[in-house]
Amino acid sequence: MMDLFGVSFRGFSNEKQKSLLVLVTLTISCVLSFAIRLFSVLRFESVIHEFDPYFNYRTTKYLAEEGFYNFLNWFDDRAWYPLGRIIGGTIYPGLMVTSALLYHVMNWLHISIDIKDVCVFLAPFFSSLTTIATFLLTREIHDTGAGLLAAAFISIVPGYISRSVAGSYDNEGIAIFCMLLTYYFWIKAVRTGSLLWGSMTALAYFYMVSSWGGYVFLINLIPIHVLALMISGRFSHKIYVAYSTTFTLGTILSMQIPFVGFQSVQSSEHMLALGTFGLCQLFSFVEYLKSKLSKEHFAVLFRTFTVFIGTLAVIVGGVLAVSGKIAPWTGRFYSLLDPSYAKNHIPIIASVSEHQPTAWSSFFFDLQILVFLFPAGIYICFSKLNDANIFAILYGVTAMYFAGVMVRLMLVLAPIMCVLSGVSASTLLTTYCKKYVASAQAARPDGAVKERRKDRGAVDKISTDFNAKFSTGMIGIFSIMFLVYSQHCVWVTGEAYSSPSIVLAARGHDGSRIIFDDFREAYYWLRMNTPEDAKIMSWWDYGYQITSMANRTVLVDNNTWNNTHISRVGQAMASSEENASLIMQELDVDYVLVIFGGLTGFSSDDINKFLWMVRIGGSTETGKHIKESDYYTPTGEFRIDREGSSTMLNSLMYKLCYYKFGSMYTEGGRPPGFDRVRNSEIGNKDFELSTLEEAYTTEHWLVRIYRRKPLPNRGV
Ligand SMILES: *[C@@H]1O[C@H](CO)[C@@H](O)[C@H](O)[C@H]1NC(C)=O
Ligand SMILES: *[C@@H]1O[C@H](CO)[C@@H](O)[C@H](O)[C@H]1NC(C)=O
Ligand SMILES: *[C@@H]1O[C@H](CO)[C@@H](O)[C@H](O)[C@H]1NC(C)=O
Repeated sequence: MMDLFGVSFRGFSNEKQKSLLVLVTLTISCVLSFAIRLFSVLRFESVIHEFDPYFNYRTTKYLAEEGFYNFLNWFDDRAWYPLGRIIGGTIYPGLMVTSALLYHVMNWLHISIDIKDVCVFLAPFFSSLTTIATFLLTREIHDTGAGLLAAAFISIVPGYISRSVAGSYDNEGIAIFCMLLTYYFWIKAVRTGSLLWGSMTALAYFYMVSSWGGYVFLINLIPIHVLALMISGRFSHKIYVAYSTTFTLGTILSMQIPFVGFQSVQSSEHMLALGTFGLCQLFSFVEYLKSKLSKEHFAVLFRTFTVFIGTLAVIVGGVLAVSGKIAPWTGRFYSLLDPSYAKNHIPIIASVSEHQPTAWSSFFFDLQILVFLFPAGIYICFSKLNDANIFAILYGVTAMYFAGVMVRLMLVLAPIMCVLSGVSASTLLTTYCKKYVASAQAARPDGAVKERRKDRGAVDKISTDFNAKFSTGMIGIFSIMFLVYSQHCVWVTGEAYSSPSIVLAARGHDGSRIIFDDFREAYYWLRMNTPEDAKIMSWWDYGYQITSMANRTVLVDNNTWNNTHISRVGQAMASSEENASLIMQELDVDYVLVIFGGLTGFSSDDINKFLWMVRIGGSTETGKHIKESDYYTPTGEFRIDREGSSTMLNSLMYKLCYYKFGSMYTEGGRPPGFDRVRNSEIGNKDFELSTLEEAYTTEHWLVRIYRRKPLPNRGV
């Protein structure tokens, strides 16, 4: 008998047919998850979104054309002028290798596809795989029905879609799949205690390490699980085998990634895993001795042993920490444990909006009904604890905490939300379906049932009726909830997550759509009209796009590895034109590029990011004279109109953004020079530039490019 949600389907009498039904449902989820991520392609075209993906695309192209060894040894002189960057040693190569491999396989099969299209469609493809991984994981934790529901939930959950729409070619796109796969293998390994599953876990972990820095979450969660099992007295030989295999093999494999290297045994983020590994050995050794020795002997030995090991650990740890062998905790990790750490200490980390704490509303926006089903899932897991359920609870609770600290980690939370919601929804559905079926059978009596029913009283009939109605009602409510959920997901995807920020869209007065394609226009201009070795100075956000689309050298980009260098650029932007020209001369800059939204109302432009430039510029030795307070009005406001501080009104960034803007009419009934983002008339209108000249301004003034004038000849 086929049994799903407690309902036995008449037509499906054997296991084969059940598998078929499950397969069909799962396939539908997969197709759905692929399809919903194509909104952006349908609406615009197949372009790559955002900033980071352009870098990934550029490196993938290089890998596909030049091969793996050239890629590993690639020294990129287009970025971080004059320092350059060794690409192979400073990235997680998993994403690029995956796409290049897919590209070669497809071409080998004579399916001609451009490498760009592989990049655009990779994330949706992997989201389908994630759907399958979620199903497998949930089935391990609960049952098949819960697995199907979880797969359906994750296929359209906005929290995950936000990072995996077509064109968002980033590490997270494949990393979530790797993460869930690792968890699935891990649960299998814990269940069976087999070397095979342990090794599979290690392999999946290797793939995860090769593709995303977020693997740190994983390598801490698994030891926490093992510790929890130890504390709750569930530690067994199986877990010993599973963890030892996973840890040793996984660590050795992860050291093969140049970017990770010896970090996996040295940095504090991995210490929990290492410590747990040691503890496992001790634990098993103690168990072994216990089985061989008498009670008194064991007690004596145990005491000596504990003291000895404790002293040894303290001494070794102390020596390593003092000699600097154990790396200090990195800033990103601190900011996880203490949300205010980064903001107070590292402006570069705090300036990225994704590193900000999550607002409550965005939990609902990204997860909707899952927020309510999730606690029920945790409760159900608690009510019948086993090794797999403990894992699900730990994952849920820790991910919840981290997602609250950092918006970006919503991505880690979304899968477990789906898994646990699947568990709770399936349990509830099973309960009501069973009741419904039972009462339906009672109401439609045949044969023996009829006989029995005759004997019972009218009370029973009423209760059956009520049960049937109540169950029908509950099932109806669930159906409506699921419908609302899917509608919400589709709406969010369409409204919020499907616009490629490289092409902007807005609504005109008459409701028609206006497309701002200024970014590509500007990069194309750079590519065609500037010397091949021109150096472009811009804020670091745009670095990847410039190297990738304009093929020109930039000073800084989103790989924020040298703060001094970024700070120097911040200083140039924040200084007066005369001082800035000295810095630009030092940095050998040819062109300056700024993003300006005052004409169109595009709010994430450089003036709105300007305070970060000031802060980052002022955070190093050479920028000591730059004080944030100089850029505020005496009352502490950041203004660009006549009231604004004179340091602000004369900074290079201000001048480059508002050059010639003073005579521009932007909105009816407003004076010329009215900034539509800041909603005020600019304060410094008539100025000329002395050391720079305007080279190009795009159609909607979104991107403005300036050329540095050659220095006057000596003696003139
Ligand atoms: C970028 O420019 C360099 C020369 O400066 C050229 O060799 C290279 O082929 C260009 N790359 C692309 C993708 O056009
Ligand atoms: C910079 O990189 C980080 C980490 O890769 C990413 O989260 C962020 O979105 C990037 N910021 C920009 C402006 O590209
Ligand atoms: C960072 O950049 C500065 C110049 O801006 C340079 O002097 C310094 O050596 C760089 N640091 C590293 C680690 O390369």
